[in-house]
Amino acid sequence: MHVLVLGSAAGGGFPQWNCRCPVCSLAWEGSPRVRPRTQSTVAVSVDGASWVLLNASPDLRAQILAAPQLHPQREGRSSPIESVILSNADLDHVAGLLALRENHSFALHASAEVLETLDADPVFRVLNPSFVRRIPFRLDHPFASGGLHIVAFAVPGKRPLFFQSEGEGIGSETEMTVGLDITSNGRRFVYIPGCAHVTDALRARLAGADLLFFDGTTFTDDELPALGLSSKTAARMGHMAMIGESGSLNALAHINVARKVFIHLNNTNPVLIEDSPQRRTVEASGWEIAFDGMTVSL
Ligand code: MLT
Ligand code: MN
Ligand code: ZN
Repeated sequence: MHVLVLGSAAGGGFPQWNCRCPVCSLAWEGSPRVRPRTQSTVAVSVDGASWVLLNASPDLRAQILAAPQLHPQREGRSSPIESVILSNADLDHVAGLLALRENHSFALHASAEVLETLDADPVFRVLNPSFVRRIPFRLDHPFASGGLHIVAFAVPGKRPLFFQSEGEGIGSETEMTVGLDITSNGRRFVYIPGCAHVTDALRARLAGADLLFFDGTTFTDDELPALGLSSKTAARMGHMAMIGESGSLNALAHINVARKVFIHLNNTNPVLIEDSPQRRTVEASGWEIAFDGMTVSL
């Protein structure tokens, strides 16, 4: 199984178009201490020829241009992209679907509720149903796509920001936020770009995986409020901070997973600075930080 990171940043990307937080400032200055990143999308393939996308970020067109594996390979119109699997209906995971119009035939796998969310928005009608097959998956029921065996499972999450009302609860386990457990040839990759907190059931599911990509949105829970950028903590956004008692470093410290990689990194997260003490902290805890163009072969 080949795993290719097309985009490793959270919504907004890095740098974010309207942000001069300390980390974005380094990117705007062209500092070698940071690498710019596009918004989170991962491509997976069994044979290197046909590819499954995990989410479709607003940067998808540029991500395809940057990945020769995803360029059309035959004369006329074609694409190695065989399907797209959505883990939620957040804008940073679905807006790229609009870049996949032009009557290319592919399968769109998502929970029924996420597909209904897209159906409720007439803009997504540009994905002509006679070419783009909407295929709902059921939680905990295996399905196949692009030669991969996949199980979607609920993780503590939230409804998309554009749906949320004031005071809405965060952290319920519904089909609006899922993780994807992906197997090929006995190797297992688990993809969880958004997770509000870690449960015992989640820890049990992760045991024995060869590769985990996990929500790395912020370093501290109050990262955005402390910078005066937003009133929302990571927890209020339905995401996990890395440090702190309930942070991911603690919550996932003892799981038996061969490689642990943070993805969906918010532009404020100081681990994006390659020589920062925060970066050293996560690396010393056995985690890697995803970057655009990162590849893992399992
Ligand atoms: C998230 O990850 O919480 C969302 O992408 C936020 C957003 O929609 O901007
Ligand atoms: Mn996001
Ligand atoms: Zn920023």
